[in-house]
Amino acid sequence: MDTMLRFFGRRKGKAIGASRERLMQELLPKIRLVLPQKGKLAKTKLFPFKAKELWLEIGFGGGEHIAELAKMYPDIGIIGAEPFLNGVSSLLAHLNGSHRFPKEDTGLEEGRCDNVRIWPDDIRLVFPYLPDGIFERIFVLYPDPWPKARHAERRFINQNNLPELYRLLTPTGRLFVATDVIGYADWVQEQMKIFKKFSLNNKDLHKTPEDWVPTRYEQKGILAGRQPIYFVFSKKNCLTERKKAAKLKI
Ligand SMILES: C[S@@+](CC[C@H](N)C(=O)[O-])C[C@H]1O[C@@H](n2cnc3c(N)ncnc32)[C@H](O)[C@@H]1O
Repeated sequence: MDTMLRFFGRRKGKAIGASRERLMQELLPKIRLVLPQKGKLAKTKLFPFKAKELWLEIGFGGGEHIAELAKMYPDIGIIGAEPFLNGVSSLLAHLNGSHRFPKEDTGLEEGRCDNVRIWPDDIRLVFPYLPDGIFERIFVLYPDPWPKARHAERRFINQNNLPELYRLLTPTGRLFVATDVIGYADWVQEQMKIFKKFSLNNKDLHKTPEDWVPTRYEQKGILAGRQPIYFVFSKKNCLTERKKAAKLKI
């Protein structure tokens, strides 16, 4: 891991306020993704309920998107990764406000929040612990564009990470990538061309995918006049599985 290039900026920005700091101390340990001593993470042990599907969001920023998904889909287990600790504390605040934990657990508000697990660090550290075909959806939304050519290796969609994303998706799974940087959209398409194993599902890249929840970054970009570009990829050669799943309405 020492040779791993950092894809993200600072781990901490402005001081985290007292109530969020308390969430970091009390709530995070309860919903933090814990890696096993050896072997792979057991899919069925990640959540205290039988999750219908597992989804992954890489680089959740302030966590608005993941918190909203968690609310919309209480039967889905969602893992979110974000090394920026202010973002992690922001997600905790969203979860604490919307879902709430049982009082006896945290001393915080009453309620439940059991469908999000947080990895407060680089997702690449988790890849070796994840079994094949675990996620139905993977979101990489507004990844840092690293516009300078000499930083191109840091762009998250690359030939090191694409095989992992491919491996982690179920045969019917989808990879959602969004950006509002035209250069990054071109980069994604080039990387996909080289990797070859994904096919693009959506023809109109400006059309918001179904059930789309905009991220904070997306909303800011739209207000500033930038246009989102969406990619929905699925695994090639998995058509039969997708057809089977459609028939079974999975
Ligand atoms: C431009 S921000 C977008 C945040 C959020 N997705 C949104 O749209 O509002 C990109 C985020 O990806 C995170 N990130 C970059 N590399 C990452 C990695 N290897 N693992 C997890 N998160 C990463 C950064 O810390 C940053 O918060």
